[in-house]
Amino acid sequence: MNAPLRLGIAGLGTVGASLARLVEARGDTLAPQLGRPLRVVAISARDRKRDRGFDMDTIAWHDDPVSLASANSVDVFVELIGGADGVAHESVRAALESGKSVVTANKALLAKHGAALAALAEERDAQLSFEAAVAGGIPIIKTLREALAGNRLTRLYGILNGTCNFILTRMEAGADYPAALKEAQALGYAEADPTFDVEGLDTAQKLSILTSIAFGTKIDSESIYVEGISGITSEDLTAAEELGYRIKLLGVAQRTDTGIEQRVHPTMVPRDCGIARISGVTNAVAVEGDFIGSVMHSGPGAGGDATASAVMGDIVDLARGVRVPPLGRPAAELEPYRRARMRAHEGGYYLRLMVRDRPGAFAAIAQHMADAGISLDSIVQRNRPIGTAPKRGTERDQPVTIITHSTTEEAIRGALANIEAGGEVSGRPQMIRIEAL
Ligand code: HSE
Repeated sequence: MNAPLRLGIAGLGTVGASLARLVEARGDTLAPQLGRPLRVVAISARDRKRDRGFDMDTIAWHDDPVSLASANSVDVFVELIGGADGVAHESVRAALESGKSVVTANKALLAKHGAALAALAEERDAQLSFEAAVAGGIPIIKTLREALAGNRLTRLYGILNGTCNFILTRMEAGADYPAALKEAQALGYAEADPTFDVEGLDTAQKLSILTSIAFGTKIDSESIYVEGISGITSEDLTAAEELGYRIKLLGVAQRTDTGIEQRVHPTMVPRDCGIARISGVTNAVAVEGDFIGSVMHSGPGAGGDATASAVMGDIVDLARGVRVPPLGRPAAELEPYRRARMRAHEGGYYLRLMVRDRPGAFAAIAQHMADAGISLDSIVQRNRPIGTAPKRGTERDQPVTIITHSTTEEAIRGALANIEAGGEVSGRPQMIRIEAL
């Protein structure tokens, strides 16, 4: 049996503590599979005293993660601190500089510095592994980088944020947005300041990493079109249900003639497709390629044990001596990311307008759509119940939902601007993209 693989873990929050317990429980029993046992030999965290459910007495303590990252006693540096910069970035760089392999769950770090860190790892003949950085326990990095490597991928899309999916699921069940968010916060899914999750930024960071591996391009998290879920209302969920759709916050990366689209936005998906059925905090990622057709993984996107499971998968690869370019191809071979123009995006659209209840309003709206070359699939006025028609002079604005056939973002935005300028609607129109699945 070979010598143990010696792990140094920086960051002992839920994931770090869970990983340490997993290594304590399985470090020896996995040895026949791996050819060597696993040991945690060094740790670093903010609070030394807290009981984390594993024996810390025999493990070297470092106050400074950077010193742990470069310690000779450590073979693999496991970074579970978080954050794009600061000590997480410094310690990962220090480990790679010293030729040590790194395992990290840090999506922010990868989204910002992934291409540079991959290049550094290759230069120093070290591995950089980050399965846990995207979709928690779901093995999507390995799937894209290894299992589907023979495919020319065309599109991937996923529910990459459990908080948003939980909120939308609760809204489907009748809660309004503030109540669903409050519930997510009470259950510990959403932060006190939920902006990063609900405005789609967390999804965007994860998407940028997947895009790079799927399409062989440099990670570009700055070029993503991002819209969150805070503008979605119960009326939209009800209308979606009536029209045969569900609303999901999707991250989508898609090859187009003008480049690669990277977009994060609330999306209408047909109610009977696989991703529509993913509820609560569960994540899912679907990938489409020329030989595989379509494949979808679903599972826990967060949580200490599930995320530690993904970190452990990377450690197991290192123990076995598996070597792969971190982003699927050597860093020097990654192509620059060519951004597709969002205005050229093609698809169907759902629109919800508050239309002034007066003669000709409907016709004017239909005319604006026709002028923009947009063909309508359905247009529904949500009338009050039969027999309750208003008396002349008491008309109120009426909600109207429109589903379009496939058109462009440019055409929709142009038509909506003209509709608003024409004064036939009150308030801002709602617009949700429909994904063809
Ligand atoms: N906050 C994320 C989510 C998990 O709600 O899915 C960590 O990325």
